[in-house]
Amino acid sequence: MDKTISILGCGWLGLPLAVKLLEQGYSVNGSTTSFNKMQVFQEKGIRPFLLKDLDSISDVENADFWHCDILILSVPPRIKKYGSEYHSQLLAEVIRLVKRQKVTPKTLYFSSTSIYPSIDTVISESFVLNEFNNANEVLYQAERMLSKDLGKKLTILRLGGLLGYDRIPGKYFINKRNIPGGTRPVNYIHRDDAVNVTLAIIHREIWGNLFNAVAPLHPSRKEVFLQNASDFGFDPPSFDNGQSAFKIIDSQKLQKKLSYQFKYPDPLKFHYTANNDYIA
Ligand SMILES: NC(=O)c1ccc[n+]([C@@H]2O[C@H](COP(=O)([O-])OP(=O)(O)OC[C@H]3O[C@@H](n4cnc5c(N)ncnc54)[C@H](OP(=O)(O)O)[C@@H]3O)[C@@H](O)[C@H]2O)c1
Repeated sequence: MDKTISILGCGWLGLPLAVKLLEQGYSVNGSTTSFNKMQVFQEKGIRPFLLKDLDSISDVENADFWHCDILILSVPPRIKKYGSEYHSQLLAEVIRLVKRQKVTPKTLYFSSTSIYPSIDTVISESFVLNEFNNANEVLYQAERMLSKDLGKKLTILRLGGLLGYDRIPGKYFINKRNIPGGTRPVNYIHRDDAVNVTLAIIHREIWGNLFNAVAPLHPSRKEVFLQNASDFGFDPPSFDNGQSAFKIIDSQKLQKKLSYQFKYPDPLKFHYTANNDYIA
């Protein structure tokens, strides 16, 4: 069994994932950019690392982070904060560091379905992305770079919009007027499913692969936001009558290859809480 798992980016998804992995008997190294979170990690049994920039990532003090059997990359590109170059610089450094290990760890990269263009149809993993048709250049380049350097050691998970617990999509549209794209189908995944899919990949040792990870049902944005408003007493938003381009991301490959059954297949029935809750 692969025993040590390092999670670069123990944030909203990475931290509950770390907790679940600990429960299953793995040793978990977790990184954060926030000094204050290190104590939280320690209390949970996660070995904490303060990795916040290219220097700290390469710092000899943090060398142990890269001695792992499995590496999970759970850091969003955050282009507004870091610019469009930073994510590939970060990953180039990650690749350099893992390649220096005696055995290159198996690596799971959390990408996003935002990489696919909205072309009014159903899209599976067999859709061929290129430099002209991708809808997220930073992720497209990141996936290419990791695939080229890590090959069969790498699995890419293209996650839909990550929701559940305190992330309630309708919360961001309370009382908003004339929201465009109300008829657009959503491509969401509940956090518990994102965690469980990750565990399935690790348990089944599915490396050198690519999966879309999105709940199989795709109600419209309007349906979801109004449902949230009704469930939580939000002032409901209103929608314009326009049509906008859409995509429906298909996750059948993941369901078949991992024999995975979604805990929350329907975004109209996702489980939410008032506060973030780290139990996945
Ligand atoms: N959120 C979505 O809807 C969504 C959709 C599709 C895919 N994804 C992917 O899912 C993964 C997890 O997303 P999330 O929502 O859990 O993100 P998050 O809550 O923002 O967590 C990101 C983690 O990365 C750390 N981090 C941020 N900038 C960093 C940097 N420059 N160097 C090193 N570490 C850094 C953060 O540190 P701190 O602990 O200090 O905050 C945090 O631990 C990401 O790969 C993201 O691209 C997310």
